[in-house]
Amino acid sequence: MRSATAATSARGLTRALGDWHGDGPAYLALARATAALVAQAKVPLGSRLPAERELATSLNLSRTTVSAAYSALRRHGYLISKRGAGSWTALPAGSLGAFGSIGVRPAGGLDRTAELDGIGAVDTIDLTLAASGAGAAASAIAAAAAHASEELPRYLQTPGYESFGLPQLREAIADRYERRGLPTSPDQILVTSGAQQAIDLVLQAFVRPGERVVVESPTYPRALDAVLAHAARPIAIDLDQAGWDAEVLDTFAATLRQAAPSVSYVIADFHNPTGALMSSDMRAAAAAAVHRAGSYLVVDETLADLALDPAAVRSPLPPVAAFDRAGRVISVGSLGKTVWGGLRIGWIRADARLVQRLAAIRSRIDMSGPLLEQLIGVRLLGSYDVILSGRRAELLEGRDVLVDNLRKALPHWDFRVPAGGLSLWVELDRPVSSALTLSAAHLGVRLAPGSRFGSDSRFERRLRVPFTLPPLVLAEATSRLASAVGQVREGVVVDLADLIV
Ligand SMILES: Cc1ncc(COP(=O)(O)O)c(C=O)c1O
Repeated sequence: MRSATAATSARGLTRALGDWHGDGPAYLALARATAALVAQAKVPLGSRLPAERELATSLNLSRTTVSAAYSALRRHGYLISKRGAGSWTALPAGSLGAFGSIGVRPAGGLDRTAELDGIGAVDTIDLTLAASGAGAAASAIAAAAAHASEELPRYLQTPGYESFGLPQLREAIADRYERRGLPTSPDQILVTSGAQQAIDLVLQAFVRPGERVVVESPTYPRALDAVLAHAARPIAIDLDQAGWDAEVLDTFAATLRQAAPSVSYVIADFHNPTGALMSSDMRAAAAAAVHRAGSYLVVDETLADLALDPAAVRSPLPPVAAFDRAGRVISVGSLGKTVWGGLRIGWIRADARLVQRLAAIRSRIDMSGPLLEQLIGVRLLGSYDVILSGRRAELLEGRDVLVDNLRKALPHWDFRVPAGGLSLWVELDRPVSSALTLSAAHLGVRLAPGSRFGSDSRFERRLRVPFTLPPLVLAEATSRLASAVGQVREGVVVDLADLIV
């Protein structure tokens, strides 16, 4: 079993459960509602559930009720408990395959083990994450790690705390911006633990409870989670798959005037989930709009280097910050999608004074990033272009395999083929994203329903399908998705939570 990382707090679970009461005994209703959250990926797989006592207090229930609910979840495979250590969410189909892992035992009567020889049999295919294993970058990471551990003794004489990030890494990141046409000095860079921490730090710096934050809709769900965790109010700017145009820009500018947010958050490059790429004109206009409004724009560039179509690779667009003369654009980047998420190397590029402020905030929760990983990061940025071309080749193959398979197996699904990024943003022929998520989970495919990408009910017609897994797994996933669609069409109500009796 994968070791658990995330924890779900009693408050978080209570909020996610909403009005969970149903027919029959309370423990059963609670177990069903919790199982539904796991099946719909609203509570992450492998996340630790709160202790029974804490959840009982939070839900205003007796501990016996919560204890009985946890037992039911355990009996039905939604929970794995270790005495004295806690309980972690799971799916009944079997072992979980985050990171492309790819457990065993075909689920739901599908027996395709033989077809998948070479990568192992597939049990649960996890399409909730738009992320891949290290793939072609694996050997570069191993070599960089070996090199970094040789270098480490030189640093052991120092305290090892680098609150802004290892100077060579800040330099290497600044240099990368220079090469993208944006003059940047190392003191404009703060190294963070991934882009996620970077987003959170900026929100901590700018947002007070109740304040409004402008976000695109749809958007990256964990950015939305971070906004909500700061008790801020997201204000959505609707985007369709084509991304920013004059109309979106007008709405954005009008919202800045009316809502006067301190910050807005956008993904200009190969947007997650739509894949849209903001044009240079729109970049310039968005930067000018935040300048006029006296607010800040956080531009998440996590996917900026993931151009896949040759034309997009040949002519990369300038960063949004290149159009900013007033220090109003804060860029967030990461090696998470281009190299490997496990490195936890991300950064913020901003005005040097703002970087000082953000570093001070960061030091309250984290004195410094780990030094060894930063040494690895420096080495990897030394061969970044080679690593990128390997990553792009893998993603391009994945994208094309997924597109082909979906067009054949599910011709009623509509999508644009994005020029880059990690996923397709599919328009379903009916608003059944949640039902499909449940059916697919039963057949061994975990999906994030469209609703995860915004609060708008129109996303019930949408599904994000990442192409980050190996081609054979994507082909298998498509075939299971087609079976799940068939079940939904036939009205087979597969509510995994109903399996709890
Ligand atoms: C748009 C976007 N921003 C940020 C992140 C988080 O990146 P990191 O792993 O560097 O924290 C992701 C990961 O899925 C992402 O898609």
